[in-house]
Amino acid sequence: MHQDATAGEHRHEDATATGMAGEHRHRDVDEETARYWEELYAQRDRFWSGRANPVLVDVVGPLAPGSVLDLGCGEGGDAIWLAGRGWRVTAVDVAQTALDRASAAATEAGVASRIEFRRHDLTRAFPSGEFDLVSAQFLQSPLEFPRAEVLRSAARAVAPGGRLLIVEHGEVPPWGRHEHHHPRFPTPQETLADLDLDPDRWVTERLDAPRRQATGPDGQVGTLVDHVVLVRRER
Ligand SMILES: C[S@@+](CC[C@H](N)C(=O)[O-])C[C@H]1O[C@@H](n2cnc3c(N)ncnc32)[C@H](O)[C@@H]1O
Repeated sequence: MHQDATAGEHRHEDATATGMAGEHRHRDVDEETARYWEELYAQRDRFWSGRANPVLVDVVGPLAPGSVLDLGCGEGGDAIWLAGRGWRVTAVDVAQTALDRASAAATEAGVASRIEFRRHDLTRAFPSGEFDLVSAQFLQSPLEFPRAEVLRSAARAVAPGGRLLIVEHGEVPPWGRHEHHHPRFPTPQETLADLDLDPDRWVTERLDAPRRQATGPDGQVGTLVDHVVLVRRER
């Protein structure tokens, strides 16, 4: 589901916070990227489960809350769960439809005041600031996507003492096997290498590929493989 087409250094900057109306148009959004994800979300009233991702729950559960950046937040399942546990969340996505749904769900859950949703195309620019946790959950795309560069920007956004958690599909989900695009997914070790972290400043806390049972969009049950990279910045 992903292609690594690393481009030059891309900018760190703030995108304008978006509201529910979906009227915001950011000049730093790639039209093709936005169209692809908008068309995907338009297929269903709700695309993802609404629940937080299991590895995120596992990793974050024992942590004291702080600030978190959720990259490619989709419909907000993780952002809402994190806010419910006291985290101050900045959640970004390129798809306005996803952000609108996430924002509505956050309001319904009573946690909207702790989440800032922003429309942001990570292929063009990266949110500014430092965070106690940066989370990239299934930030994978069939389009050209400067994955390694975005993940390195994610590492730079981690505050001293903070963590970067990357969770990706390790195999095409059983319900996605009819798609023609069957990539080879990077291993957790390859993803860690792509980050190019200074070993004097970073500790690897998790590097594994757990399997789990999950339910697909049409109720199909199958086994998924998650590729997990969790690193902590010491200073
Ligand atoms: C596979 S979904 C995962 C959503 C969510 N993290 C989850 O685990 O349910 C990938 C998300 O990344 C977003 N995305 C893809 N390319 C992006 C980009 N260039 N900038 C920001 N978000 C992007 C998509 O709109 C989509 O919501």
